[in-house]
Amino acid sequence: MVYLCYLLEMGKKRVMLPASEVDITTVKYTTQRIQAPYLTGFWLKLFVMLAETPIIGSMIMIFLKKMNRGAENTVIPEAPMFVPEFPPQESEPDVVCLEEDGKPEERVELALQCLPDNNAGSIWITDPAAPFRYWKIRDYAYAYRSKLTAPSQATENFISAIEESNNQNPLAPLLISYDPDEVRRQAAASTQRFEEGSELSILDGIFIAVKDDIDCYPYPSKGGRTWFHEIHEVKKDAVCISRLRNCGAVLVGKTNMHELGLGITGNNTNFGTTRNPHAPDRYTGGSSSGSAAIVSSGLCSAALGTDGGGSVRIPSSLCGVVGLKTTYGRTDMKGLIFHYGTVAIVGPITATVEDAILMASLVYQI
Ligand SMILES: *[C@@H]1O[C@H](CO)[C@@H](O)[C@H](O)[C@H]1NC(C)=O
Repeated sequence: MVYLCYLLEMGKKRVMLPASEVDITTVKYTTQRIQAPYLTGFWLKLFVMLAETPIIGSMIMIFLKKMNRGAENTVIPEAPMFVPEFPPQESEPDVVCLEEDGKPEERVELALQCLPDNNAGSIWITDPAAPFRYWKIRDYAYAYRSKLTAPSQATENFISAIEESNNQNPLAPLLISYDPDEVRRQAAASTQRFEEGSELSILDGIFIAVKDDIDCYPYPSKGGRTWFHEIHEVKKDAVCISRLRNCGAVLVGKTNMHELGLGITGNNTNFGTTRNPHAPDRYTGGSSSGSAAIVSSGLCSAALGTDGGGSVRIPSSLCGVVGLKTTYGRTDMKGLIFHYGTVAIVGPITATVEDAILMASLVYQI
């Protein structure tokens, strides 16, 4: 560990110098060897077994706390700021501000109005021979409204593409919780809305995939683990998911991820490692690996990921798609497995910048 602050001794307490007083030109990095306890395999199992027994377990915990006194005795002179404060912003000309409590359908509509009016659906999607992949949100919206296709019809293409990807050997799943009948059910409801002319928003009937650490009823949230859903029951949608649902999005399932988000390759030995659609012998990056891959393979216009240390940015870069990470505190984290901490946000992963704008209008509390 390297500290950027000098430590002063004051009795038993260590008082750190305020950051503003540290002369960084004289700070030297020291390569100090730190001894830390290290347990794996049999000894780790034994330790966990002991730590979980009633009396010995609590004694072990008291002992560990005593060992960790160093951190408790450190005084940091600045008041901690866990949540960034946003100074009130003056409204600028040409900047459209979304209402924080605005209805999701209205927010996405406002974002839509900000997009350049260049194409109401790309020309090439009207070609019946065109593959259905790589459609952006406005392509689907145009195709549904002009009855070139319907959500239920597009869903069958999606389902066969997922089946094809699930039959790969070795296993490299994009989605680790997925139920085609659930996708068909949502798509049928959307199709009916289009038939009645009562579609909810530009996102109605749009396929959106969700990282496995975001609650999306009725799918379990496993966080890329095999047993996590046993201790974390999903009873309702996360806030960001319920906004998407209010807009009519078809939530296709939970995407593969680096186990518990603790890594940046996307290598998942529980479910199989998602492969980079541009080069199947390469990693997607992680931890939002499946979300980036499903967008990059053209099956979904958008997916949600989470990012604390690069988990949206890394796979988006490696898979050649758009990923957005904002300041911590800008997104509502209710309904996420890892809603605590001081860095993580929910962020959209999309094929185009314009789709990122549409998604951001729902994910961020601006
Ligand atoms: C994933 O990691 C495991 C364990 O380190 C390794 O054996 C395996 O080859 C890796 N898989 C891929 C696809 O890289």
